Amino acid sequence: MLDPQLDADGNLIHLLSTEGLSKEQLTRLLDTGASFLGVSDRDMKKVPLLRGKSVFNLFFENSTRTRTTFEIAAKRLSADVINLNMSTSSTAKGETLLDTVDNLCAMHADMFVVRHESSGAPHLIVDHLRRTGRNDIHVINAGDGRHGHPTQGLLDMFTIRHYKGGFEGLNVALIGDILHSRVARSDIHALKTLGAASIRVVGPQTLIPTDIEALGVEVHRDLDTGLKDCDVVIALRLQRERMTGALLPSATEFHDRYGLTHERLKAAKPDAIVMHPGPMNRGVEIDSAVADSPRAVILPQVTFGIAMRMAVMSVLAGGGA
Ligand code: CP
Repeated sequence: MLDPQLDADGNLIHLLSTEGLSKEQLTRLLDTGASFLGVSDRDMKKVPLLRGKSVFNLFFENSTRTRTTFEIAAKRLSADVINLNMSTSSTAKGETLLDTVDNLCAMHADMFVVRHESSGAPHLIVDHLRRTGRNDIHVINAGDGRHGHPTQGLLDMFTIRHYKGGFEGLNVALIGDILHSRVARSDIHALKTLGAASIRVVGPQTLIPTDIEALGVEVHRDLDTGLKDCDVVIALRLQRERMTGALLPSATEFHDRYGLTHERLKAAKPDAIVMHPGPMNRGVEIDSAVADSPRAVILPQVTFGIAMRMAVMSVLAGGGA
């Protein structure tokens, strides 16, 4: 079956997942991101690659970083950007997702950036566009349910490559709520393809999917063994909005066992970097002393997100990676 991200010639025309992207495709996206890094430092922070194109941001879920950096990225590529406020759009009156998409297509949309609480919503849009012959419109998954957040995965890879020079030999740990994390899945697929030496997931049994080892990761219940000799430590938020039932005794107990403190980080390599996709819950998965320390690269992740989202939009519109 045709990969839904690819056109008939094998070009990447949608970004739905980091799963299935080859090492060459990932590397081309990261290299393109690197070429855009300097655009933000210019007096004229614009390049004309998407001039005349209309990018629609459809965020059915809250967002600070992703929505804003997609808007900045599209504007830096000279696109026209239309931000729909989904809480005041006609979806609130019962219009279906696909009827909304059809109406925006009638307004000559060229690209949809979609965040949705349901896993698979961006795939549904791609399938609908394909069935209705609108193969010239691109879809980017900006986070769907628990499934994936591929541009976060790409900006995380960009950050790791920036600080560590590459992926070979790296030990990477993802700490906390793996079960509900779309970022964890996107990072794991990309890290695996790019050749990280070990990928560890660390957390309580209730917050680690039972089948996660099939993705090629080590599972650790103990933070000290999970962090041992790590080069990269990625803290994840407890996603209480996605939890049904009591998966944790308390946030305080979670912090005692899995919270990142300077003391616990002594198990990692001395030059280990600390990442977090945001939003952070200080004092739960990460201490403020760590989040605000020089080893934390959490704000550079956000800045790199602009360059990586420029890279994704320009590669999709320009014929694929
Ligand atoms: N990392 C991330 O997706 O943050 P937002 O929810 O603020 O977009």
